[in-house]
Amino acid sequence: MARATTAHIHLDALQHNMALLKAKAPQAKLMAVVKADGYGHGLERVALALRTADAFGVASISDARRLREAGLPQQIVLLSGFDEASDLEQLRELQLDTVVHHQSQLDMLGSDAGTPLRVWLKMDTGMHRLGFDPDAFKTAFAWLKSRANVHPDIVCMSHFAASEDQQGKVTQQQMLCFSETVAECPGAHSLSNSAAVLNWPSAHGQWLRAGGALYGLSLSPEPGSAAYGLQPAMTLSTRLISVKTVKKGERVGYSGMYQCPEDMTVGVAAVGYGDGYPRHVKQETPVLLNGLRVPIIGRVSMDLMTLDLRSQPDASVGDPVVLWGKGLPIEEIALAAETISYELTCSITRRVGFTEDALFTSG
Ligand SMILES: Cc1ncc(COP(=O)(O)O)c(C=O)c1O
Repeated sequence: MARATTAHIHLDALQHNMALLKAKAPQAKLMAVVKADGYGHGLERVALALRTADAFGVASISDARRLREAGLPQQIVLLSGFDEASDLEQLRELQLDTVVHHQSQLDMLGSDAGTPLRVWLKMDTGMHRLGFDPDAFKTAFAWLKSRANVHPDIVCMSHFAASEDQQGKVTQQQMLCFSETVAECPGAHSLSNSAAVLNWPSAHGQWLRAGGALYGLSLSPEPGSAAYGLQPAMTLSTRLISVKTVKKGERVGYSGMYQCPEDMTVGVAAVGYGDGYPRHVKQETPVLLNGLRVPIIGRVSMDLMTLDLRSQPDASVGDPVVLWGKGLPIEEIALAAETISYELTCSITRRVGFTEDALFTSG
């Protein structure tokens, strides 16, 4: 029998979330960021549900190839750019746009004489991850403009380090740095990740690049994604496979981390870190059993977790358990695991079964 652990993908939620983001910036185009297998939701599944996106953002040429094989014709942007000169051939074959963020990539373009490639030139405005410093950016922009192997419409882009902080000085400084630099570089602008689409209208520009919010994910529980009207695109669930009484003073699970304060009903759900549920969640992290919260007790193990069923002593084997998603915000679980919701969905393992809604669209 297959394990009961299932990630159900709500395709309508993906579409709802994209419409909500588009409505925040109706003048802008939207790139749906689908790297890391659509943030763990399934690359093709997500991209087909979001087929009206203006572009897709990926981290690898192999993912871009999968999107083309799925029949998606729109712009696809390689967000970390190409690594080797031989990649350029594949960019052309698959008609991909590429980010250019480093001198090594300019050197490769300098030795190339193929048909014009579409470039997104990346500026480091303060995150200090990828991108050219402002002066080097202007030089690179002018050089790329002079190249016959580069399409003349270069998109100027940068990435925010902390746009989820609505009062953040860092974001303001990054925007200022960007606008001062691009004043001399005509073309479309792209700055906004999900949190910036939601929090920083002045950063919208011509191209949004949204990932997390499409999936109903946010970087912090306050304000969580629901406060913005976003819906969770994944519900992770399983079933109860054991219910029994454990005596007062007995310990539960590995290392006996939990000691029963009284005779109590303990349930076991068929999910663990082997499915991608974080082992290190705090004691008392909730799950939904039959739609109601009950706390995890003891250590989460590879295939199983133990639950305090004192509030539902009549629960039975087979009852449904939701780990996150509809009815239980994933941000709450991420906080209990000292991580972000993005990492949780990206960590779902291959043994978890995926299901999805049938999608009824007018188009
Ligand atoms: C360059 C770039 N743009 C946009 C995004 C999307 O960010 P988010 O998922 O927070 O919307 C990412 C994701 O990390 C990224 O690396």
